[in-house]
Amino acid sequence: MVNLHQERIPATAANSHLKQYDEAVASFSWEEVEKQFSWHTTGKVNMAYEAIDRHVEAGKGDKAALHYSDGVRDETYTFRDLAKLSNRFANVLGKLGITMGERVFIFMPRTPELYASVLGALKIGAVVGPLFEAFMETAVKDRLQDSGAVAIVTTPALLPRIKREELPLLKHIIVYGGDIPEDSGLISYKDAVNEASDQADIVWLDREDGLILHYTSGSTGKPKGVFHVQNAMVQHYYTGRIVLDLREDDVYWCTADPGWVTGTSYGIFAPWLNAVTMVVRGGRFSPGDWYGVIQKYGVTVWYSAPTAFRMLMGAGDHLVKDYDLSSLRHVLSVGEPLNPEVVRWGLKVYGQRIHDTWWMTETGAQLICNYPAMDIKPGSMGKPIPGVKAAIIDDGGNVLPPYRMGNLAIAVPWPSMMRKVWNNESKYSEYFRIKGWYVSGDSAYMDEDGYFWFQGRIDDVINTSGERVGPFEVESKLVEHPAVAEAGVIGKPDPVRGEIIKAFIALREGFQPSEELKKDISSFVKAGLSAHAAPREIEFKDKLPKTRSGKIMRRVLKAWELDLPTGDLSTIED
Ligand code: PRX
Repeated sequence: MVNLHQERIPATAANSHLKQYDEAVASFSWEEVEKQFSWHTTGKVNMAYEAIDRHVEAGKGDKAALHYSDGVRDETYTFRDLAKLSNRFANVLGKLGITMGERVFIFMPRTPELYASVLGALKIGAVVGPLFEAFMETAVKDRLQDSGAVAIVTTPALLPRIKREELPLLKHIIVYGGDIPEDSGLISYKDAVNEASDQADIVWLDREDGLILHYTSGSTGKPKGVFHVQNAMVQHYYTGRIVLDLREDDVYWCTADPGWVTGTSYGIFAPWLNAVTMVVRGGRFSPGDWYGVIQKYGVTVWYSAPTAFRMLMGAGDHLVKDYDLSSLRHVLSVGEPLNPEVVRWGLKVYGQRIHDTWWMTETGAQLICNYPAMDIKPGSMGKPIPGVKAAIIDDGGNVLPPYRMGNLAIAVPWPSMMRKVWNNESKYSEYFRIKGWYVSGDSAYMDEDGYFWFQGRIDDVINTSGERVGPFEVESKLVEHPAVAEAGVIGKPDPVRGEIIKAFIALREGFQPSEELKKDISSFVKAGLSAHAAPREIEFKDKLPKTRSGKIMRRVLKAWELDLPTGDLSTIED
């Protein structure tokens, strides 16, 4: 243990323009950061304006905002291009009568049109709901229903997953690509955008007006809509500067899809608020393609995730030598624990420190980070960013001393904190059950130097390849399968993906366990929810451990799996 806490990788000269951590903390003020935005003169704000149009007005219209490639398309858009494209799309939505605060969902793969749609929806003051393209019917329906979405932008390939008959509030479906028959009730994105003006009136908002609704999983119930407001931009902008260390001439690549919060906070807002050129790569992960992207665009700042780094590590050091990655200046990671050996490997093959960052959908932006001008301790998430206070607390709210494991908690408020859980006040208040604190659901400890070390989730939420999966959602889908009587789902440790989803299943009368049935059940979840939610492992059991009130005891399943003591079984059913 001692060695782990003492190993340090010092900051390099590349970060010497940033204040030292202690000084940055001491001299920090959110008021100074807020002065960057137009509300200082008008009192009003709009994320799309602050991220795009503001820079055009400041004479940066010709600067590249987006380099996009997917193997077929290869395009660059300036800030002026994006201002115009998003104006067009804002006009399309405006003409449909969509107004401020209404929910507009974006359900499409990463293409320039996705980004123009998000910005256009924001310009009319709509709340954007991004949906990951891998979501299937049930996952899409749950989110559209809960949010009361009035419009969705999608593609012909994804359209069949939107069950219109079950979504009476969904008035408009805008389809990008393909032939849209006149009488289909669908709107052709291309036609509508072509007919619209590229000048638009931006809807000016208050800082507490809506921005984005990200659905994410907890251990019970369906996914919850985490609602963020315009004010989050303060922290997006600021962490872009001091954590991503973005500078005017950077070429920045965030590998996350906007269906997840990393892909919006750091794949749209933070870089563009900082007027930085961003790279978007469509399509699937492949080590060679990824290195090719860095080489092709001269990527300087790269934000990715542990599973990706582990896969790149698995692809071998020799592959790194086939590409020129010398443009890289700053590398970061988020979403799951970053293993110390990955950090050491990154230093060896990329010559770069990989900076771990910790935050959540609910927190809206980075909170605990390896600040660039600070030593990295491999395996630690780093320290709270200047302006944020974190602590390890017990269930009674007492702050625990170094090395004591407990609840990772953040002192409230901070600018990008979620403002509600959609339609679910009680879920929201659970996070703030201890006065003065946001309780994250993660367990961690702090060392004597103030570095935080992640230990695990306190609840049953699964983190597979950095994607957060709620066991309840998977179990609910599993029991819809004709062969499944009962199902309990856990995360099983996995060397590459962090965790994989394992399902324990009791079969209905008349069904026999078989490999074929396992495959069928897994495909069923894949088709209903999404590929990442499908169990990679299934084990059949005659009976599942349950409480007397009938709740499946996932902790017992987990103990079985890991060969651990099952603990207190006093509430178990006979
Ligand atoms: O358990 C923590 C883990 O991911 C959870 C948040 O997931 P999500 O809302 O999907 O957001 C991911 C991207 C912001 C956390 O509760 N997590 C996130 N970052 C880290 C992490 N676990 C360990 N180390 C991290 N750096």
